[in-house]
Amino acid sequence: METKLKDKLGRPLRDLRISVTDRCNFRCRYCMPPEIFDKNFKFLPKPEVLSFEEITHLTKLFVKMSDIKKLRITGGEPLMRQNLVRLIDMLNSIDGIEDIAMTTNGSLLPKYAEDLKAAGLQRVTVSLDCLDDEKFRYINGRNVGVQKILDGIEAAQKAGLGVKMNMVVKRGMNEEDILPMARYFKDTGVILRYIEFMDVGNSNGWKLDNVVSKKEIFSMINEEMPIEPIDANYTGEVATRYRYKDNGNEIGIISSVTDAFCSSCSRIRLSADGKLVTCLFASGGHDIRDVLRSGVGDDAVMKTIRNVWEGRDDQYSVERLKHTDKGQIRKIEMSHIGG
Ligand code: GTP
Ligand code: 5AD
Ligand code: SF4
Ligand code: SF4
Repeated sequence: METKLKDKLGRPLRDLRISVTDRCNFRCRYCMPPEIFDKNFKFLPKPEVLSFEEITHLTKLFVKMSDIKKLRITGGEPLMRQNLVRLIDMLNSIDGIEDIAMTTNGSLLPKYAEDLKAAGLQRVTVSLDCLDDEKFRYINGRNVGVQKILDGIEAAQKAGLGVKMNMVVKRGMNEEDILPMARYFKDTGVILRYIEFMDVGNSNGWKLDNVVSKKEIFSMINEEMPIEPIDANYTGEVATRYRYKDNGNEIGIISSVTDAFCSSCSRIRLSADGKLVTCLFASGGHDIRDVLRSGVGDDAVMKTIRNVWEGRDDQYSVERLKHTDKGQIRKIEMSHIGG
């Protein structure tokens, strides 16, 4: 099919990530440190948040004008948004959407997994950073135990959802959990992916020294449980994929810091308050909500989307060290755009 939209670096638009809320029931220290996201923190007021109808309408326009076939629902914690199952159902009925996935902390999956699957959700990616209960209770900042997340994963698998796991690896926090996680999930049908700790936002105290590189993670696993690289599923896949030599099961590493993947980045993010964000590390977004609400009509909304994508030249991860050398620049928080 003819490619409909290309950015300044020739990258098509294939992947729409929709953040449905900036709220979360966790306070992971590398994402929403509890000292900053405390009871005085001002989350988005309801009138500023896109309705399900608005999200669905925008998604239809995106599908019409780009190569988007894949949606990912994010947050904050997406399952904190009331009646989210209804949104999945609405998005699933859009012609041209082939895949709907969700990134979640897993705590509410026992409650929602079956309904989500029935509404058309195909896959979930659950975040879990270690299996050490005490440490996990500390990391998530809300004293939630590991078993609760394992129950969520089980509920998702039982409901027939595909399950991947995200483990953020931060030196000094959980590098000793790399191997226990691999051992635990190796034969479970869950695809575990390690994510290099990233400098998203301005509140997580990121330092290059805290990054455990893809190379290190690979060696650690390979030494005990030999793995070999396998081809990407699709152009622009974020994770480098490997398989265990003995059972063929998959594992992945997401190396935004030490081996950037911007050259094939075809993702746009829609924030809960209707901003189009063209890079995870952007300073801000381009408003689409007020354009939509002004009643100017679909052509004008599509023109705004076109201008945003055609004007895009982001490749933050490729240029990271240039930016961090210059000191902090203002960046959107992870909880606002959902990774
Ligand atoms: P599938 O391949 O469809 O399963 O999705 P995915 O691998 O993109 O899943 P997910 O959204 O869970 O991405 C995994 C993590 O990779 C995210 O939570 C982010 O931390 C990181 N990530 C995703 N997209 C980008 C990106 O464009 N740039 C950077 N630097 N990191 C990203
Ligand atoms: N670096 C890497 N990954 C992060 N995530 C949140 N903050 C960071 C960070 N600073 C992960 C979460 C979740 C996904 C949305 O991104 O653990 O899996
Ligand atoms: Fe943790 Fe995800 Fe919530 Fe951030 S959005 S605090 S990573 S559970
Ligand atoms: Fe895409 Fe920005 Fe991530 Fe690069 S840093 S892969 S441009 S979102």
